[in-house]
Amino acid sequence: MPKVPAIQDAVGHPLVERAAKVQKEFLIGSRRIYPNAYLAPMSGVTDICFRRLVSRLAQGRTGLLVSEFISVEGLTRENPKSMRQMAFAAEERPFSIQIFGAEAKRMAWGAKIAEDTGCDFVEINCGCPAPKVVNKGGGSGLLKDLPNLAANLRAVKAAVQVPVTIKVRVGWSDDLITLFDTLKIAEEEGASAFVIHGRTRAQGYRGLANWDLIAEAKSRASIPVIGNGDILRVEDILQRLETYGVDGVAVGRGAMHNPWIFAQIADLYEGRVPHLPVREDFLWVFTEYRDLLREEMDLEVRVLGKLKQMAARILKGLRGAASARLSLLRSQSEAEFFDLLNAYFDSLSAPVSRLEEVADLNGGEEEELSFGNTFKN
Ligand SMILES: Cc1cc2nc3c(=O)[nH]c(=O)nc-3n(C[C@H](O)[C@H](O)[C@H](O)COP(=O)(O)O)c2cc1C
Repeated sequence: MPKVPAIQDAVGHPLVERAAKVQKEFLIGSRRIYPNAYLAPMSGVTDICFRRLVSRLAQGRTGLLVSEFISVEGLTRENPKSMRQMAFAAEERPFSIQIFGAEAKRMAWGAKIAEDTGCDFVEINCGCPAPKVVNKGGGSGLLKDLPNLAANLRAVKAAVQVPVTIKVRVGWSDDLITLFDTLKIAEEEGASAFVIHGRTRAQGYRGLANWDLIAEAKSRASIPVIGNGDILRVEDILQRLETYGVDGVAVGRGAMHNPWIFAQIADLYEGRVPHLPVREDFLWVFTEYRDLLREEMDLEVRVLGKLKQMAARILKGLRGAASARLSLLRSQSEAEFFDLLNAYFDSLSAPVSRLEEVADLNGGEEEELSFGNTFKN
């Protein structure tokens, strides 16, 4: 099991000192979200296995965990995949189910089905850029039809008792920034939190998130505002909280590179120097993830596929990892995968450290990644 570092030499540590001064939690309804940095939903990535892994790494200090986005069409037609995607473990609480769709009645129906699982919150996705979602008016398609977005939120609010949140992009395009209108709708229709991915739909996953817009929304908001986009390291969490004044942040792709980031921020908040992963931590992550995957998947080939997806991200930028990653991605069995992994870590003479910042977050390649389960290296 991962260890929580002892409080040692933390006095005077620059990050610990900065962490002492920032807001560390916020409320959704009456529920405390601590720490105020949590795992952003990522379709094809943040399934129950990945979420449980992250929760275990942080010893339960993950703030909030959110399902992948789930189609209300699928839910209301009892599509087995959609029903499965709602499953969560007790260790994941507080847990939110994110739904997408475009038609208010069906959204309300889907939200009720979600609530019946016993989840703590329901979130409406107003950010997905994929044409197959947007063309039906869902995801970021709702940003082009704000009356319908309002109608959806109203219907969902009326259908469920649990707090409802919404996650938006800042707009459809640079010419159509909808952030302040969607914030107003969220407040008027009684959303309990407002999550902002700081890109437009037109950007996809390219370029950088616009945190100035996020800060402006926060300064106008009467409900908690969570900022999201381009957070890679624990320092980035502090910087976003310090500079933009948001109530919390969500971390997406950065958590695939560094699934320890939630443990690290919680440690800082508790006055501890965050633990930097060493060889044993990496190996623990892979074996724990494999065990969690085996609980959900019968076929070794599927487990292996997910392990490769993780290796592609987590080893990026590590010393000498480029060729190790290639061989891992070509491995034919779990046994071969773990042999190669052990051999790679055995070959490291120095402690594990990243050679380069993983700066581009695979930018631009994400649309494919989100809607097939194929990983683009
Ligand atoms: C592979 C992938 C799948 C995603 N799926 C979802 C999703 O299901 N629901 C959602 O609200 N956002 C989804 N997103 C967007 C992320 O939650 C987040 O807003 C975005 O990646 C920006 O944050 P980041 O820079 O920290 O990655 C997805 C992003 C990626 C990369």
